[in-house]
Amino acid sequence: MATTAPVPIPIPFPPTRHERSALILYASETGTSEDAAHLLGGIAQRLRFATRVAAMDGQGVNVNELRKYTIVVFAASTTGQGDFPANGRKLWKSLLRKSIPAGYLRHVDFTTFGFGDQSYVKFNWAARKLHRRLQQLGAKEFYARGEGDEQHDEGTDGAFIPWSLGFKKHLVENYPLPEGIEPIPDEEFLPPKYILQLLHPETDSDTSTQTETPLKMNEGTNDPCLKEGFDQADLITDETPPPDDIIQIPGHKVLTLTKNIRLTSEDHFQDVRHIALEMEGSIRYEPGDVLTLYPKNFPADVNSLIELQGWTSIADKPLQVIDSAAHPTSPPFTAAILDLHFPVGRPPTLRDLLTHNLDITAIPRRSFLGAIAHFTDDETHKTKLQEFSNPAYTDEYFDYTTRPRRSILEILQDFPTVSLPFQNALALFPRLRGRQFSISSGGALRQPNGKETTIFHLTIALVRYRTVLRKIRQGVCSRYIASLQPGTPLACTLSDGSLNISAQDSPLLRRPILMIAPGTGVAPMRSLIWERALILDQEDELRSIEQGSENSFEGAPRSKTVLIFGGRNRNGDFLYEHEWRDFKLGIDVLVAWSRDQREKVYVQDIIRREAQLVWAMLRPWELVRPREARGGDLHDAEKGVDPNWTGDGTVIVCGSSGKMPMAVRAAIVDVFAQGFGGDREKAELGVKWLEREGRYLQETW
Ligand SMILES: Cc1cc2nc3c(=O)[nH]c(=O)nc-3n(C[C@H](O)[C@H](O)[C@H](O)COP(=O)(O)OP(=O)(O)OC[C@H]3O[C@@H](n4cnc5c(N)ncnc54)[C@H](O)[C@@H]3O)c2cc1C
Ligand SMILES: Cc1cc2nc3c(=O)[nH]c(=O)nc-3n(C[C@H](O)[C@H](O)[C@H](O)COP(=O)(O)O)c2cc1C
Repeated sequence: MATTAPVPIPIPFPPTRHERSALILYASETGTSEDAAHLLGGIAQRLRFATRVAAMDGQGVNVNELRKYTIVVFAASTTGQGDFPANGRKLWKSLLRKSIPAGYLRHVDFTTFGFGDQSYVKFNWAARKLHRRLQQLGAKEFYARGEGDEQHDEGTDGAFIPWSLGFKKHLVENYPLPEGIEPIPDEEFLPPKYILQLLHPETDSDTSTQTETPLKMNEGTNDPCLKEGFDQADLITDETPPPDDIIQIPGHKVLTLTKNIRLTSEDHFQDVRHIALEMEGSIRYEPGDVLTLYPKNFPADVNSLIELQGWTSIADKPLQVIDSAAHPTSPPFTAAILDLHFPVGRPPTLRDLLTHNLDITAIPRRSFLGAIAHFTDDETHKTKLQEFSNPAYTDEYFDYTTRPRRSILEILQDFPTVSLPFQNALALFPRLRGRQFSISSGGALRQPNGKETTIFHLTIALVRYRTVLRKIRQGVCSRYIASLQPGTPLACTLSDGSLNISAQDSPLLRRPILMIAPGTGVAPMRSLIWERALILDQEDELRSIEQGSENSFEGAPRSKTVLIFGGRNRNGDFLYEHEWRDFKLGIDVLVAWSRDQREKVYVQDIIRREAQLVWAMLRPWELVRPREARGGDLHDAEKGVDPNWTGDGTVIVCGSSGKMPMAVRAAIVDVFAQGFGGDREKAELGVKWLEREGRYLQETW
């Protein structure tokens, strides 16, 4: 079967307001909103809206731009503590400008869909703030806003899919097509804006049609209709690690891996690594800051895909990306527009893109299955793939992909009649994204050799599990990290943590801190503990010099720091146990082991068990006994901490998302209720007050 790249439908650039046009903007940290924006873009495009899908901070997107389109749709996630993702902050800030005249956006018809997680206090704040601000500026909501929640049984799709179906219905009913013009049928592939082309087609014959004949249905190893276990050999046949070439990532730093050590015992189910990375020169980072590592696909998987798709002859030829619908005024393509990372100093090849940029082992979204259905002539395969991608058949998609965790590569092996044009690879495959990790070093660990080198520690739980099909699955980045040997150079980016915890901040330095950290949630806590120790030691040293009492000086009293750590068992996964024991800081470590005794004990159980301590550390004085009644402040920043003074502490919750954060919050409300003499309303108010004051911090992943 020969499949040629479809001819693109020209899209005017930029469209003018009075044409039928749609601007779909996303603000996304890990791709959920971005995928959603593309899905909405597809709906609008099929209804013949001239459509642009871009990041909120994308090229040429500004407040003025919003006024040029018939409809504007925002898909915005919330990150950090109710913040906008990095690729939406610029536009958000411009929208807040006081100089924007009242009613400036009165001709803008818009809607928003927020992506968030109910376990965060500031649930969907970014989309909510955005919606309200647009309305303040006069914009009109043309379709009711929606919100997705990671905690829903079906994840954010639980709300997004019905919302997107309603969105389509709304467009059909309210923006009817002119007589004689039909929507683009679902069976027709929507041509992507950006396509790949051979850089030298004259010499590197452009095999836009596959040369190898793809297999027909049932010639492959698997019957795609089987939902239960089939005996397919593990995909990992060749563990040759990915190449260690450095690719161009904006703002990256090259770090050298120096340690990759297992922290958990060999018989423990989880492999948690202590990773050390080193960089020449001095660089400052704060507790809570994150390092992003960029995973690479393994050569065996890349080769499998190249062979399966008949791309062998062009896989190593230089390519270029072209804008298939470019208008003469459109700006030239840059890798940044598509968030692509190319090799240094040479044009990329398809193998480069499949290794560094495209996630070929992800569990695909419905839209991927729908898109590849266009590239098979086999009616059974086509029908099956269309069924999987149809939101009306939720169970079929769930049973085939989500439940058995089937990867894109496995699906293409299951459907060997699918023959994808390499030109469309950028539009078909999801992006391979960097993975963020909280830095677990700080203080004296940061620059042990003075300013010559900077050290970064990471504490990483490798994702490895067995699927219902009894296959071993590994996380993309986990598999890559497991393969890394000391001496490997890595391109990483460093970013400010959304926890926003600077150890120098007075509440974190001088008031109690309650750290709640099951598993690798301990990473940012370890950083804060080391950082705080360094700052307080330096202060003591300075004070002793000032007082001329170097030998007898005992140091100022320090406020209480309690780490509530959780794991399965003491012998298996007590991360950094030796450090907590040796540490001369007066950190109290309380532990919750879920499998060391008959009954399961979790961090929230320790909070309830230690209610008196937790209350003493966190009690909100302003609510317990307001300032006037107390006759002034209890705490004098100048004099340090009064050892008898407790309360007004900060609680930090880190670790896995899911049920833990909500269970912890509920336990703290219980403790507060006890503290307020059984008044639950006041307890809830007290916790809300902590949150408002920025003294209830959470980062979960
Ligand atoms: C701000 C921030 C800080 C972070 N800090 C840390 C840190 O300090 N340490 C750390 O280890 N991680 C941290 N993470 C998480 C990290 O970024 C990665 O998400 C994680 O390492 C997994 O990446 P991966 O590519 O290996 O897995 P992926 O390929 O992304 O796969 C992960 C997916 O696998 C699936 N999965 C996992 N386990 C199972 C199972 N048992 N059954 C079925 N499906 C399963 C889930 O769908 C999960 O979403 C942090 C994340 C953020 C956002
Ligand atoms: C570090 C971090 C912080 C988050 N903070 C919030 C938050 O404050 N409020 C919220 O509703 N969701 C929060 N979330 C959940 C995300 O919004 C949610 O997972 C979303 O689907 C991610 O979309 P994206 O992939 O487009 O970035 C947070 C997620 C992470 C990893």
